[in-house]
Amino acid sequence: MELNLQSTKTLANGVEMSRLGLGVYKMTDPDEAIRAMMAALKTGYRAIDTASLYGNEQQVGEAVRASGIPREEIFITSKVWNTDQGYDETLRAFEKTLENLKMDYLDLYLTHWPVVGKFADTYRAIERLYEEKLIRVPGVSNHHRHHLEEVFAVANVKPMVNQIELHPYLSQEELRSFCQENDIAVTAWSPLARGRLLDEPVITRIAEARGKTPAQVIIRWHLQHDIIVIPKSVRPERVKANADVFDFSLTDSEMEEIDGINRFERTGKDPDHIDF
Ligand SMILES: NC(=O)c1ccc[n+]([C@@H]2O[C@H](COP(=O)([O-])OP(=O)(O)OC[C@H]3O[C@@H](n4cnc5c(N)ncnc54)[C@H](OP(=O)(O)O)[C@@H]3O)[C@@H](O)[C@H]2O)c1
Repeated sequence: MELNLQSTKTLANGVEMSRLGLGVYKMTDPDEAIRAMMAALKTGYRAIDTASLYGNEQQVGEAVRASGIPREEIFITSKVWNTDQGYDETLRAFEKTLENLKMDYLDLYLTHWPVVGKFADTYRAIERLYEEKLIRVPGVSNHHRHHLEEVFAVANVKPMVNQIELHPYLSQEELRSFCQENDIAVTAWSPLARGRLLDEPVITRIAEARGKTPAQVIIRWHLQHDIIVIPKSVRPERVKANADVFDFSLTDSEMEEIDGINRFERTGKDPDHIDF
């Protein structure tokens, strides 16, 4: 598969989603956030992953406008937070998200976590936003297979993206297969395991042999597994380096070696063990 920074994945409804985007969780300083987002757009990124929880939707809107790049060339994701879930609440939360962004549509809107007793209604509201053409793609996040099955039971249109914690220590093979069977694209959050993987011996050995950094090897592993990847950095030089992953490819045996370090280890919470 020939890939570059503009490569997209075709979603179930034909919409094209960037395979590599910028995650902006914990970018709380507004100037720093805008600088990082602008650096990303200047480098050639065309996707930003935010959420109402992150408190920086406004800066996402500002950076997009300041970049001079047409809105429709940038793929923006946001998410409905846990305390805003339910049908009417989600519709209201979405209005606020658009207001923050100062935009009239969103590319992808996700249920942030499957809040027990609410996430199916939350998804029905997301589906309504899709029918009303206020979002281009309906999706979910942190959904295990059983959550997805519960959503399928009430949905007319299946979610087209599931954003889950995924990295070489938590490779999520079963859930990835289930998503693939159901035409749901998978996005990896904490793709670098928040830095924990950067001195993993298998990764550092491959990185050294390839003259790339551990982060670049990990990002490449995601891309070669057909996983959408959204590494976060506030540092412009890292934002740029994290996208410099298109001048090499991992061999099948290197991919298998990295697959082999899975240890079912999360950096965040298990969606089934959250006290919502
Ligand atoms: N749906 C969800 O529930 C959920 C949950 C968590 C995250 N997310 C999304 O996924 C995105 C990515 O996940 P994440 O932010 O948790 O973790 P991540 O991307 O795996 O790691 C980010 C951490 O790695 C550092 N880093 C980035 N590039 C680096 C490099 N080249 N070399 C060394 N260190 C590097 C960053 O520090 P600096 O910033 O200082 O460079 C930051 O501390 C988030 O920003 C958010 O958009 C979604």
